[in-house]
Amino acid sequence: MFHVVDTSIFDRPTLDDLCDLTTVVRNLAKSPEGARDLQRLLPTKRAMLYFTQPSTRTFLSMNNACHVLGIRTSEIRDASVSSEVKGETFEDSIRTFSSYVDLIVMRTPDAGYAARAAALMDSIPRPVPIVNAGSGKDQHPTQALLDIYTLERSFENCGGIDGKVIGMMGDLKRGRTVRSLSRLMRHYERVKLVFIAPDGFEMEPDIKAFLTENAIPFTETGRLHDVLPDLDAIYVTRIQSEHDVDSESSGVNLAPFTIGAHELGLLKETAAVMHPLPRGPEIAVEVDQDPRAMYWRQERNGMWMRVALIATIFDLDQEIRELASRNS
Ligand code: CP
Repeated sequence: MFHVVDTSIFDRPTLDDLCDLTTVVRNLAKSPEGARDLQRLLPTKRAMLYFTQPSTRTFLSMNNACHVLGIRTSEIRDASVSSEVKGETFEDSIRTFSSYVDLIVMRTPDAGYAARAAALMDSIPRPVPIVNAGSGKDQHPTQALLDIYTLERSFENCGGIDGKVIGMMGDLKRGRTVRSLSRLMRHYERVKLVFIAPDGFEMEPDIKAFLTENAIPFTETGRLHDVLPDLDAIYVTRIQSEHDVDSESSGVNLAPFTIGAHELGLLKETAAVMHPLPRGPEIAVEVDQDPRAMYWRQERNGMWMRVALIATIFDLDQEIRELASRNS
């Protein structure tokens, strides 16, 4: 693994290895000795966090994941304070970052930039890995990894993700998290997807074509209550109004696409309620107290999965497993 631009680089063994390594590092870090062992792994490495679109959890979890492994970080979170305002091209900016660091993690408001950065790296003498931390409406591959980990843990006593019915609800048209997660479903057996969206915010045709090509069954509905009892997981997303061109989301009635006490009553006792966060009104705060609410766990899982991912990029998988067996 070198660049992580989209989900196409992952296969089932890699996903299973990453999930397993995530559990290994989070357990190892529980003891002071284990945490120090992890911090000693990459003290000579430096990472650049280049986030020109707002972020709380992806930025903080990436930053702290680097620190868990001893990697020092620097950041640009606003292109207006970089030399891009003087007319420096995107490519020259990325090449400049690569002069100083060993890893670039980047989030951009538009699609395609992580792929451009990776292509640039592949053409220069000292390339560094590029990790896509969210690219416009298109892809969020590391979010999809932490979602897979959370789903696998939620179903660890009932066969994992294989065979599950997973609902995805909200702004599916512009939600990069649901797009990336849908793509990863091709690695799981007998999964069924149920897309629940307001009119005009349905899943895009490219993802539906991908699912059809990969024989992953899916259905679409605007009627949440009809499908809730069948779901093993409901992945809720907010309306991505930052992508509005003509305030098109301002008139959407979100009430039929909201999880509250009544909806919890329709859900299986074993179901998982997920959300990439930040949330809007689509998950009522009282749902937080329900044992099926997985979104705060999902958020914490994000840092550990990103530790596992960065460790894998730097080929530390085996070394971490050996550290864990010495510490156990
Ligand atoms: N889930 C997610 O990407 O959150 P942030 O936008 O806060 O990083």
